[in-house]
Amino acid sequence: MKAEKILDEKMSRRSLLRATGKLAIGAAGLAAVSGGLNIFSKAEAKETPLPWPYEKIDPEEAGRIAYDGWYKAFCSYGVASGILVPLQKKIGEPYVSLPTEGLRLGEGGLVGWGTLCGSLLGATVAVGFIAPYDVGKQIMNEMLQWYSDTQLPIYRPANPKATVAVQTISNSPLCHLSVGKWTKAANKSLGSPERKDRCARVTADVAMKTVMLLNDWKDGKFKSDRKLPAAIYGITAQHNCNECHPNNIPTPVK
Ligand code: HEC
Repeated sequence: MKAEKILDEKMSRRSLLRATGKLAIGAAGLAAVSGGLNIFSKAEAKETPLPWPYEKIDPEEAGRIAYDGWYKAFCSYGVASGILVPLQKKIGEPYVSLPTEGLRLGEGGLVGWGTLCGSLLGATVAVGFIAPYDVGKQIMNEMLQWYSDTQLPIYRPANPKATVAVQTISNSPLCHLSVGKWTKAANKSLGSPERKDRCARVTADVAMKTVMLLNDWKDGKFKSDRKLPAAIYGITAQHNCNECHPNNIPTPVK
């Protein structure tokens, strides 16, 4: 269903609601109308089991939306928008019913706690709707590895809001380590325009890389037999054990 069609439908439902509000109908009549609307929404939700339909996205478009998105509502929202907004335009429902503003709380590694980089949270949520569970798991496994191993940021915005000259490798998908290593290397504070633009660019990078993997999967070209950390170490973990356990890496309980 195309976006305009859905908008029309939403509008007509809204005008129906307005009309029922204005009409002096009895309580029973009103209940009947709203009951009917409820049934309608439930039936609509059932029409779209996971995974949702996917069409290939231009990674450049995803990057642009994600970069701009960071300046509106930060990293999680930025990546989710970079992936889902093009699908809202191309495919319509069910994507138009998923407002990406709901991802905003991922900012700062989840409201500033520095846990998972919010850009990866945005990617995880989007991929969770698009790819079958097993494929999504491998796509995100690749994404976390790539995020940890890559000199970031790579993205060059058309109209940068600050100069970002330094790239760093985080060795980890954690916001705290990613931001910490970059701010130290660049000698810039958390509140500096450079750090902000760095995170906006990382947001674009994550959206673009995720879209490239989704596009490969759509083309039947995505392959990954990389093991998940939990299967390697016997504990849920990141690979940089020695950064947090410099003296002695504890052995997980068997
Ligand atoms: C981001 C930091 C970080 C990383 C990376 C990390 N750990 Fe830990 N780990 C901790 C902290 C903090 C604790 C809890 C304090 C402690 O016991 O040292 C912990 C606890 C553990 C425990 C529980 C037993 C214990 O002695 O507390 C095991 C086992 C463990 N880590 C193994 C690993 C392994 C193996 C890796 C790498 C695959 C790893 N850790 C990576 C921070 C980390």
